[in-house]
This record gives sequence, C-alpha cells and structure tokens, in this order.
Amino acid sequence: MSSKKANGHDTAPQKLRSRAWFDNPDNVDMTALYLERYLNYGFTLEELQGGKPIIGIAQTGSDLSPCNRHHIELAKRVREGIREAGGICIEFPVHPIQETGKRPTAMLDRNLSYLGLVEVLYGYPLDGVVLTIGCDKTTPAMLMGAATVNIPAIALSVGPMLNGWFKGERTGSGTVVWKARELLATGELDYKGFIELVASSAPSTGYCNTMGTATTMNSLAEALGMQLPGSAAIPAPYRERQQMAYETGRRIVEMVKEDLKPSDIMTKKAFINAIRVNSAIGGSTNAPIHLNAIARHLGVRLDVEDWQTYGRDIPLIVNLQPAGEYLGEDYHHAGGVPAVVAELMKQGLIEEEAMTVNGKTIGANCRDAKIMDPNVIKTYDKPLKAHAGFVAMKGNIFDSGIMKVSVIDEEFRKRYLSKANDPDAFEVTCFVFDGPEDYHHRIDDPTLGITADSILVIRGAGPIGYPGAAEVVNMRAPAYLIKQGVHSLPTMGDGRQSGTSGAPSILNCAPEAAAGGNLAILKNGDKIRVDLKKSRVDVLIDEAEIKSRRKALMDAGGYKYPAHQTPWQEIQRGIVAQLDQGMVLQPAIKYQHIAQE
Ligand code: FES
Ligand code: MG
Repeated sequence: MSSKKANGHDTAPQKLRSRAWFDNPDNVDMTALYLERYLNYGFTLEELQGGKPIIGIAQTGSDLSPCNRHHIELAKRVREGIREAGGICIEFPVHPIQETGKRPTAMLDRNLSYLGLVEVLYGYPLDGVVLTIGCDKTTPAMLMGAATVNIPAIALSVGPMLNGWFKGERTGSGTVVWKARELLATGELDYKGFIELVASSAPSTGYCNTMGTATTMNSLAEALGMQLPGSAAIPAPYRERQQMAYETGRRIVEMVKEDLKPSDIMTKKAFINAIRVNSAIGGSTNAPIHLNAIARHLGVRLDVEDWQTYGRDIPLIVNLQPAGEYLGEDYHHAGGVPAVVAELMKQGLIEEEAMTVNGKTIGANCRDAKIMDPNVIKTYDKPLKAHAGFVAMKGNIFDSGIMKVSVIDEEFRKRYLSKANDPDAFEVTCFVFDGPEDYHHRIDDPTLGITADSILVIRGAGPIGYPGAAEVVNMRAPAYLIKQGVHSLPTMGDGRQSGTSGAPSILNCAPEAAAGGNLAILKNGDKIRVDLKKSRVDVLIDEAEIKSRRKALMDAGGYKYPAHQTPWQEIQRGIVAQLDQGMVLQPAIKYQHIAQE
C-alpha cells in the first residue's frame, strides 16, 4: 500500500503492522497460530489477510466507570465507521479509572492503565487505535500509551453530561460539592439536602460538566490535535456525539493509510497550543501533570516553566464553573474548542501549522469557527479575567509548585493582596496536616488556633506519600471561620487539587515531603511568605534552622507515610517521578516510538 502523509510528504509504501501476525510467509507456524484463534472469533481469512487495517477500540467504559460508560454505545458507531472505511475492528477493555470511585485515588491507576494499553498496542495485531477518553485520568492514560507505542491513534471523547439544575440554578459536577460541604459544615444543609444538591449536578451519562479535569483534558486532547475538530464539547447524549463516533471510526482507517502517528501530531507546537488553550478555558491544575507526562513519553521537552511562559498572560475567556457560571452544554452551544482556538488565533497565539488527526492543520480547522454565545465564550479583549494561566512557584520549601491565579476571588484579594506596600505578596502563619485523614480529623478543632491569617499546609499527599497523589490541597477553612465570613484560606501542599475546585492553592509541590522535600520540616507557627510577582514561596527561617530540622528528620528515619496496601502501590512508589515531571513511571520514558523498532 502506498501512502501520502497528511502533511503532503510522500512516505515509503506501508506494510500493515498486523500482517506480521496474520500474513507472514517467513513464519508460517506462528501465522497459523495467530490466525486460527482470530478465525475462531469469526473473522474470515479474507478479512484478516485482505490488507484491511485492523483498528483497536480501547474501551474505557464499563459498569465501574459511569463517566465513560456511554462509550459502550458509542463504540458501535465507531465500528460502523471503521467498517465503512474498509477497516476491521477489534474492541478491547482498558483497566478502569473512575475518578470518584477508586480508592485511594484514581491517579494511582493512570500509570497502570497506561502500562496496560502499551502492552496491548505493542503486543497485538493492531494497525491503529481509537482511544475512548472522558473521565479525568482516562484521557492522559490513553494519550500516554499512544505516545509510547506511536501507532496511528485518534481520541474520541465521551462528551460531558447535560447541565445540572437545582431550584432554577445550574449545578456543576464536582464544583457543587465544594459549596455543599460548606453549607453542611455551617448547618445550612442537612445530610439529605446535601446529597440532593450534589446529585442534581450529574443528570446524565458523560463526564463532569464543569471545567474540571475532564472537560480540561478532553478540550486539550482536541487542542493537541488528537480529536476531530469540535469533538470535545458535544454532550454525551446528543446525536452529534454518535455522529462524531462514526466519523472518528472512518478517519482512523485513513490515518493508518496515511501513516499519521501521534508523534506527527503532538509536537512541541501542539503542546504550546494546548497550554494557551488551557489558560483561555480556565483549565485544571492537573493539566500540567498530564501534558508533561504525555510529552515525556514522546520525547518532547516540556516543563512547568513552559506553562508560565506560554500560558500565564492568556486571559480566561470561557465562562464555565468553577471560575465562571456556565456548564458543558453551554460550552458546546457557544462553539467549544474551535471557537476558543479561533479567538486565540486572531491574536497570533496559536501555532497554526500544528497537524491534527483529520490531516489538516489546527489553523485550517479552526480559522472560521465563531463564538456563538458571547456570554459563555468571551472575546480576548473583554475576558472574564486577565492573565489566567498558572504561575510556576519555587522557593526554599520546594523546587516546583503551581498556583492558578485566575481563581483568586475578591474576598481573597482584599484580605491578602491589598496591602499598599506590596500588592503581590502576603505573609501567613502555617498549620500543617500530615495527609488528608489528619486534616479531616483536626480542621474544625478550635484549639488549633487557625485564623484568617493562616495558611493550611498538607504534606504526605504526593505521588509517594499518598500513592498516586491525593486531590486534597483545596482544603476548606474551619467551620467557625466560614461562619465568620472567611470562606477560604491560602493552602499549600504536595498533593493535587480537583479541577472542579475554585481554590487558589499552591499545589503539586515537588519534591514532596516523602521524597525529601522541605515541606516535611515545616512546623505549626512558621511564617510563610508568598510572592506572586517573584513566583516564590518561602518559609521565613534561616538556612541553619532548615539544616538542623532536616538533620533531626533524617535522624528520626525520614518522613513517614502509610504502608502499601496493594502490590501496585508498592511498585509504583518505587519508580514514580514527582508531579513536576508528570508523575510518570521513570523507567518507562526511555521506551519511545516502540512500534517502529
Ligand atoms: Fe468522571 Fe468527573 S468524575 S469525569
Ligand atoms: Mg479529581
């Protein structure tokens, strides 16, 4: 089969990878073995040896994964598209990752799911793959796997849930929980009312309808060029979602013929586009972890500083909860990702020549996209907030952390950042918790003496300390402070934060306490200085004191964290990188483009 790459370059005639299994005269014994079992499935010889691309559907939907469960239906339309375009379809299960159901945290399993996908894509007769994405970690796990193996791959989003409603107001999944827990803490809601309010936010199948990690990562998969244009935002139950599934199936067959691979699409330029789109949509603080991981598996250099360099000054233009008011359906009707990209393009902020899965550049795909509802997607000149990207923080407590400045609200700004002498910095007193359980037990204890001038610090919540890194840094203030009108305190930690939370935390701090970071030596009462202009967070103690505390900690055997509960927790803890390095499995990153070897 000869082929022409979508970028116009002719490539050498392609031999389908699956022929090595099913039509290999040099190894007839193995060919016979491979063939008889797939013939046993019901395929005919003509199907398996007729030169048709064999396309996998990596199925992330299951009864354990309600967010992605609709993919079981969508896969039927994907199959029809694959058949229509002359391919053969083989659907296979992916290790489930349900964000809200997996203990201790779904992030523990992102790398496990990645490993599983790599083995399937590498070890079975697949020429291309449809990656079914949706719930938070499913998107990065699938893209990381495709990056490592580097066979033609296209992502299909399951789509967001319909908008949630409660008493005439939009309730957004995840985001409503943070509000509801405050109302429960202050007694304004009882347990039943709390559950009712939270459940209202999830009215249909699909991923979270807020701009949490799911909407973020699905939007970024499109901005990276890995989904068909306009795919990310279509709500799960809409008919267009089914149609997109069919088109995705058709397109992957063409991609195999064109030999259009993840490494042709997810270039540095594509990542720069994704970083800028992330700021414009008000994307999750989990995005840098996941995109840095995907980049590392491709061998593309990307680090936390890139997020500040390319993203910090981009304004927030998408008015979705938690930073704004609207939800997923509104985002789709307003134009979704193409409208956001087009708005950034007008400012010269999109690397237009970045290739996408449809064989065209992102510039060609999005140039004519329009904002259909200016309340939901604002213009660049009249944004929701200026400078909406992340600030890459460092200092004497950690080497790398991030802060989402776009979610700093007026109350917070007034209390901490309105000092006339230095409007970009504040000093606060720290209260330290060791892991989420410690925090939950003690936060409402009035004898701790937490005041409006405190910063809540959580440690033991990173990739090693709390295996997988807990989403806990957005700690709510003590109930007695909320009652006094102090709705949020500054927070900091070596864990992550849910993308559905609007808290301006300093998070993803690396190295974590359990990996030798100085979070481990903080004590209650230490003064912490946060300087947004200089991007620094420092504990105001001198170097000698830091040294002596470190020595005392090491003499006591280092920072203690809970025992492993499962084999995978132990295995991952031994080889996992820190959050600034994408929390990848360190031995895995040297395996690049392995299908081509
Ligand atoms: Fe699955 Fe939010 S919990 S998408
Ligand atoms: Mg989450």
